[in-house]
Amino acid sequence: MKNIALLGATGSIGLSTLDIIRQYPDRFILSSIASANNWLMLAKIAKEFRVEVVAIANEEHYENLKNELSGFNGRILAGSEGVEEAACLDGVDILVSAVVGAAGLFPTLAAIDKGIDIALANKETLVMGGEIVLRKVKEKGVRLLPVDSEHSAIFQCMQCGKVSEVKKIILTASGGPFRGKDKKFLQTVTKTEALNHPTWDMGPKITIDSATLVNKALEVIEAHWLFGLDYDNIDVVVHPQSVVHSLVEFVDGSNIAQLGTTDMKIPIQYALTYPERINTSVQGMSLAEVSNLTFEKPDLEAFRCLALGYEAGRIRGVAPAVYSAANEIAVELFLTEKIKFAEIPILIENALEKHEAKNNPSLDDLCYADRWARDFILNKQK
Ligand SMILES: NC(=O)c1ccc[n+]([C@@H]2O[C@H](COP(=O)([O-])OP(=O)(O)OC[C@H]3O[C@@H](n4cnc5c(N)ncnc54)[C@H](OP(=O)(O)O)[C@@H]3O)[C@@H](O)[C@H]2O)c1
Repeated sequence: MKNIALLGATGSIGLSTLDIIRQYPDRFILSSIASANNWLMLAKIAKEFRVEVVAIANEEHYENLKNELSGFNGRILAGSEGVEEAACLDGVDILVSAVVGAAGLFPTLAAIDKGIDIALANKETLVMGGEIVLRKVKEKGVRLLPVDSEHSAIFQCMQCGKVSEVKKIILTASGGPFRGKDKKFLQTVTKTEALNHPTWDMGPKITIDSATLVNKALEVIEAHWLFGLDYDNIDVVVHPQSVVHSLVEFVDGSNIAQLGTTDMKIPIQYALTYPERINTSVQGMSLAEVSNLTFEKPDLEAFRCLALGYEAGRIRGVAPAVYSAANEIAVELFLTEKIKFAEIPILIENALEKHEAKNNPSLDDLCYADRWARDFILNKQK
């Protein structure tokens, strides 16, 4: 039996994780859950799975959650400390870290500190704190298992050779809803168009990140830390069908790819059962039905956010944290229709240009850079 802590239980990854736990009650126990605002759904999950701990990050919803859970036997917590406690509950074997945004870093680090394995969906954990997180993972001897479909694919392909035999990794990108469009077209796109992802069904922030290719940039930085490769050895190729989830090129010229249905339950389950593979409820893929697989170079001029992400990764220090935080606020502003889609890369670039570089940052430095980037973008709107 594996005891699971699930942060971001009410989100897209969280709900897929719950489906897997429901399917395998003889393998998994959901011990603790957390989310930010959706207290009603969180309460429903807490009751269904009879969790030990339920935490709501936004303290404003604590009373509502408590009232909804009257007669509940577990502990009800609130605030970031509550979320951290849910992540680090005694007896938890694996934390599914599926919070959206920078808020994922601290509870994930706390769980690593406690020796808990991590199934990592939250990209910002490694983008912001890659160096610190990896150091802690090594020190504590925990497993850091990727949930992101591209990183899960690479993790699986890597098992075909030694790390020293890897030449490069190739992350595939669907290209999002605006693939093939030019800069001029991107000036006019609406929120509804940007939220309409062609192949994946995901939360709103990551869907916009897929439309700008920020998502791919975050994945490049994440891959750099997870697999220890230089940015020159991490390529991105646009593959609109999203059938090939990513590839590894070995030194002998062999390219090993992982393919599958576009359903996050596959990589989530693999992270939960690794190194075992078990049946899923996901329908298998028919290559004959897919019939056509295409690949193309990303357009770095129209989708400047990808180039900026590589730049931030290469600068190192606090630059990836600045990139990620500036983007988080820019996406919020776009989703509330305060800025245009085409302004997202401009704001990120401005933040990167103006940020104060810092090598080997501490957690405090990262938090400062994160806060600075958010304020910088917000102040630009006044
Ligand atoms: N969706 C995908 O297919 C996919 C694929 C690969 C990687 N990822 C990554 O996985 C993460 C989650 O993505 P998603 O699509 O599942 O996002 P989502 O649907 O927007 O859900 C986000 C979840 O995080 C919770 N949350 C937000 N702030 C929190 C906080 N401070 N403490 C605790 N919980 C908090 C939300 O709670 P409320 O609902 O209560 O507000 C919600 O449960 C992101 O980093 C994303 O990049 C997602």
